[in-house]
Amino acid sequence: MVLAYSGGLDTTVAIRWLAENFGAEVITVTVDVGQEEDFAEVERRAYAAGAARHYTIDAKKEFAEEYIARAVLMNAMYEGKYPLGTALARPLIVAKVVEAARREGADAIAHGSTSKGNDQVRFDVTAMALAPDLKVIAPARIWGMNREQEVEYARRRGIPVPEAHKKYSIDENLWTRSIESGPVDDQALEPPEDAFKWTTPPEKAPAQPTYVEIGFTGGLPTSINGERLDLPSIVKALNAIGGANGVGRIDHIESRLVGFKSREVYEAPAAVILYEAHRDLEKLVLTPRELRFKHNVLDPTWADLVYQGLWAEPLREELEAAARGMEKWATGWVKVKLYKGSAQVVGRDSPYGTYSREIADYAAGWYPSDEEARGFIEMWSLHTLTALRKRKNI
Ligand code: ARG
Repeated sequence: MVLAYSGGLDTTVAIRWLAENFGAEVITVTVDVGQEEDFAEVERRAYAAGAARHYTIDAKKEFAEEYIARAVLMNAMYEGKYPLGTALARPLIVAKVVEAARREGADAIAHGSTSKGNDQVRFDVTAMALAPDLKVIAPARIWGMNREQEVEYARRRGIPVPEAHKKYSIDENLWTRSIESGPVDDQALEPPEDAFKWTTPPEKAPAQPTYVEIGFTGGLPTSINGERLDLPSIVKALNAIGGANGVGRIDHIESRLVGFKSREVYEAPAAVILYEAHRDLEKLVLTPRELRFKHNVLDPTWADLVYQGLWAEPLREELEAAARGMEKWATGWVKVKLYKGSAQVVGRDSPYGTYSREIADYAAGWYPSDEEARGFIEMWSLHTLTALRKRKNI
């Protein structure tokens, strides 16, 4: 059996529990998607808990290029607020676990999700799509232990477990740091300062703004301040610069796919900056029809699918294909001003931009005549005025 292993309490206990309850030889896989983690220590812990073999798989580049890149193209913000970090990483983790299962000739895979979260759905659905013959087991849905009982279970078997009394439940990757439970479960309370790690409190951020110029090619970020960088480096750089300016703190009441609302807190400076910049560039280059269709239909539909565990849904790729047709034109640069928690676009340009200063200028240049303007307005308003006359008899 191959277990997706985070190194946390649940999955550490799961190694032993799966061996005891399924008679399984448990192989652990830890996928590096950019979380800050001591992977050598995670490996030691896996073996101490009884893993037969352990793999640490560096998937940072793939996470950036195949998942974050699509999120940027689709401005993926669930309910307008959550940049989907956790949701995006799950299908990739499943793919890596399935690969390991094939290599090892395993007949089942396992994960640490509980029955209250979204992650179980993302994990199970993606696994069923990629490998319908593999059984999927979620020990935490079966064993009925709470955290104290898990610690006790491990103690009795001499298994060293990490941080038994963690204040928050954290899920971290290159794109987003997700903070759940403990003090943030009180929806009325401002998240305590110790919930945050990537971001300076806005009030303590530098008194002077920082400007970043982001270059885009075909809808994807390709440079910062004129320097060409690969996507993982761009994301890391923007997380650092944004975080230092207090940008990227998100407080969200979230509609979970499992039927209830939760209060979620996120840190995602690069995501906030990139979405802001990318959407602005789209406004410059897309026709108003393309813009509305993308921002009102394609983008939120894509975000919903990914949030709801349906990475495997054919529509996801079809939406991307539609977006890619428009994104050809999203080449140019956007200047963003970072200042005490805000990220504001203050300038942009593109060879495909359809803004013309000459046309827009109030003081000079092209002006329609009075007659032209009247003719246009008359025809423009005809539907509305005709309906009003019919309805109100005027
Ligand atoms: N609510 C977010 C989501 O469903 C974040 C989940 C965080 N997961 C965690 N194990 N702490 O995508």
